[in-house]
Amino acid sequence: MLKEWALEAIQPHVNLSAEEIEGLFELPPSAAMGDMAFPCYMLAKEYRKSPQAIAETIANLIDMKGVKAQATGPYVNLFFDRNYYAIKMFEVLQHSKFGQTNIGQGKKVIIDMSSPNIAKPFGIGHLRSTMIGAALYKMYQTAGYEPISINHLGDWGTQFGKQITAFKRWGNDEALKENPIQESLRLYVRFHEEAENDAFLDPEARNWFRLLEYGDEEALRLWRYFVEVSMQEFNRMYERLDVTFDYVLGESFYNDKMEKVVKELEDKGLLEESEGAKVVRLEELGMPPCLIMKSDGTTIYPTRDLATAFYRHDVLKADQILYVVGGEQKLHFQQVFAVLDKMGAEWVKDCTHVHFGLMKFEGKKMSTRRGKIVYLEEVLDEAVARALQVIEEKNPELEDKYQVAKDVGIGAIIFGDLKNNRVNEVDFSLEDALNFDGETGPYLQYTYTRTQSILSKSLILDQIGAMNLMDIQEGMYAEALGDSGWNLLKLLNRFNEQLKRGIQNNEPSVLARFVLDVAQAFNHFYGNERILSEEEHLRTVRVTLTRLTGEALQRTMNILGLRTPNRM
Ligand code: ARG
Repeated sequence: MLKEWALEAIQPHVNLSAEEIEGLFELPPSAAMGDMAFPCYMLAKEYRKSPQAIAETIANLIDMKGVKAQATGPYVNLFFDRNYYAIKMFEVLQHSKFGQTNIGQGKKVIIDMSSPNIAKPFGIGHLRSTMIGAALYKMYQTAGYEPISINHLGDWGTQFGKQITAFKRWGNDEALKENPIQESLRLYVRFHEEAENDAFLDPEARNWFRLLEYGDEEALRLWRYFVEVSMQEFNRMYERLDVTFDYVLGESFYNDKMEKVVKELEDKGLLEESEGAKVVRLEELGMPPCLIMKSDGTTIYPTRDLATAFYRHDVLKADQILYVVGGEQKLHFQQVFAVLDKMGAEWVKDCTHVHFGLMKFEGKKMSTRRGKIVYLEEVLDEAVARALQVIEEKNPELEDKYQVAKDVGIGAIIFGDLKNNRVNEVDFSLEDALNFDGETGPYLQYTYTRTQSILSKSLILDQIGAMNLMDIQEGMYAEALGDSGWNLLKLLNRFNEQLKRGIQNNEPSVLARFVLDVAQAFNHFYGNERILSEEEHLRTVRVTLTRLTGEALQRTMNILGLRTPNRM
């Protein structure tokens, strides 16, 4: 908002486009330096004057109601009259559909997210993908896109040959039903241990997978069974995280869609033999060849991703496709995108690998190969248990304390992840994530409950016939807001800008930082101004700001996947 007004002030006096000017604006480090700063370095060459002199000239030229311009060194600092502009900002926040923009214009965005592997543990990478993907989904939705989430299950591949082999030798029905992942994992680990000494195991597994690909009844029956029991476990996880999918389409869904791709590759002369296998060479792009078909005629991960991409573009009519997958698969996606490009699929420019860094728990890396893993459900349980402990200490009488503990515990994990720039490695500490005074989910939730408790107290003071902003005289705003309220109001007006930036970078952390800033600004305001003042006009402005802050917190937290209990 403020940026638009600042633009109105600056643009008539410089020879730059609106976009260029907006890109240059800076937020001054302190209130004494105004509300918006415009640096003049860029103009020095064209005007052949020092940036200081240019700033001086521009500042003198600006003549806009309620705006004071002051040159400070190479900057033009803009001061917005608080009484005049507060009204405008309140109006925008109250009457425009807050936090809704239509930059998306109904464009379909497919979000490939979560995508765990059947018969393997739901890994930490899958958890990050689920949380980041779910946040992106709501961000795109808020901005007017039509997002479509797809859980691209790893439900096909040679590992099922191993799984069947191991199950037939050492498997146990009861155990698999009761504890599907642990039992699958036990079989998986056992397979790898025994295969070191038993030369027959690997060929046997390969054979089972071949049978599976050719539709053998027994192989298919066992495979379906593995899928079913694993899904039950994954669904429990999704329920706890409050995540749903528009489609669950595993890799197996594309089994009958690959032949066409392979044929097209062949027709276009892109396929080459290499030691019995078929590959697409990518040397000229500095990449190793992309394997399309193994020497035994079976297809692999990249082949399935090619078929998947065509399906999403041709059948589901995606305008954009996001792959929320760990950074360790960078090369895979570069290869897949390069092959699509060679095939002439110009829409590959709208495919993005939204990669993210590793996450460790209290310094421990998770690895499934060795069977040494931190079980995610245990981490969730622990977070909820610790949240309950805090509630028992602080507020033992709380109604719904078990539900609140869930909201707080799970929220702590989600926010502990999303507040980080996604490409960074995260070393997750439960204690830090649950710290009510830190940059955490519980801190946000607590701040939200503070806004709600002030609002319910204000309802007792202000009954029917109370003032609303229409009754407030223009000159009263600056006093009612004070510095801290003015800052908060300016910040609330930046939501759309932050949402847009978050979408441009596919980065939920932009909104996570924003909502932390809002919470901090509100707590300053709460500390500095008496919100429920005896003076009705002051109280009206401050309570309105509190209500709008509550709405902004709630909306942004919900986008990120955090619940907002009314009390805690
Ligand atoms: N199942 C894969 C894994 O766990 C992730 C799949 C990601 N999506 C995709 N279209 N390749 O590594």
